[in-house]
Amino acid sequence: MNAKPASAHLDEVYPLLPFEPVGGEGVHLVDAAGRRVLDLYAGHAVAALGYGHPRLVEAVAEQARTLFFQSNAVALGVRDEAAQMLADFAPSPLERVFFVNSGAEANENALRLALKLTGRTNVVAVEHAFHGRTAAAGALTWPPEKSWYGFPRTPMDVTFVARNDVAALSAAIDDRTAAVVLEPVQGLAGAWPLSQAFCEAARASCDAAGALLILDEVQTGVGRLGAPFGADLLGVEPDILTVAKGLAGGLPAGAVLMRQDIASEFGPGALATTFGGGPVACAAIAAVIETIRRDGLLERVRTVSAQIQASCRVGPVRSIHGAGFLLGLVTGPRAATVRDALLERGILTGTSADPHVLRLLPPLILDEAHAAQLAAALREIGHDLDGNLDRDPDQGGGGDDD
Ligand SMILES: Cc1ncc(COP(=O)(O)O)c(C=O)c1O
Repeated sequence: MNAKPASAHLDEVYPLLPFEPVGGEGVHLVDAAGRRVLDLYAGHAVAALGYGHPRLVEAVAEQARTLFFQSNAVALGVRDEAAQMLADFAPSPLERVFFVNSGAEANENALRLALKLTGRTNVVAVEHAFHGRTAAAGALTWPPEKSWYGFPRTPMDVTFVARNDVAALSAAIDDRTAAVVLEPVQGLAGAWPLSQAFCEAARASCDAAGALLILDEVQTGVGRLGAPFGADLLGVEPDILTVAKGLAGGLPAGAVLMRQDIASEFGPGALATTFGGGPVACAAIAAVIETIRRDGLLERVRTVSAQIQASCRVGPVRSIHGAGFLLGLVTGPRAATVRDALLERGILTGTSADPHVLRLLPPLILDEAHAAQLAAALREIGHDLDGNLDRDPDQGGGGDDD
């Protein structure tokens, strides 16, 4: 398959995959010729319920008919309901919700809260982290010397510590630290989990230093790890948690969750947004959370993830790490080459910043038969192409930046 030529008018964002979907159904994408592709990437982890889920589609259509938009200048029942459902789903001290439109915006606002509340200027982040492309979120995004967020200066001082280095983390947190920001599983880095000991040390050091612990659950949140949030898996309570991606199943939506006492420090106007908390997005958020609960999707994620981990260490795959439906498959050949070979066989996967990690971020409705299809395709690739795949050593990871 040849890559599609770039559009004459659209700014180029990612290198385009050689597949143009015109529709979607369940966990499959469909192109104009009717070719069905099993989607294990879900549009950078956004399509949490796959495509055309009746409850989500109906909730969005009904809300669009009833009231398409109103801003935070007025109260909305549907916004209250979405906030209530999200707060109930989240770790218990996180009672207050501020809705935004994206992961970067959620992180930007979480950092604003932490810097204002503590009056401090340093933030501790983890090497290989990805937190978004806006000024503050980009400042915490690895690698710092690349300044890929494109600004000449960072809006605060940032100290990076190595992943899971407890001693370095504890040494970095002091009375200048406003916040420590962690992804429970580092997504774009290649689905590498942070250790429980590292996250617990972050909590303890933040408590000792009067700093805030922010969990960036933009990629890991809302069921992706087989638990409501990564915080639940780790048993670590953050002061602030950010979420986006699958939150509304495909509509742009994010949220900052915080404890009541943090919210109480700020009056109206401290945080604001035009689009965040719009009624259609909120109807979608409520439908996503209701569906995860009602259809037992957390359990399904755990079961099917275990099956993938047990059966997919075949063909080009050397090992598997991650959690739930955020899995990194370490490949002998380059991950981009394996992704292309899988797409030839009708399965869409993602790469990562690590050129030898293929990333799976499927919709939460994936089932055992789909996992078996992946294992079979990997076996076939191994049999057909083993030893032949590593022929493109100068190519990058594949451009699946989230
Ligand atoms: C952990 C994490 N934080 C933040 C972001 C940024 O989210 P958005 O692209 O919605 O701004 C991403 C996107 O991939 C992410 O994975």
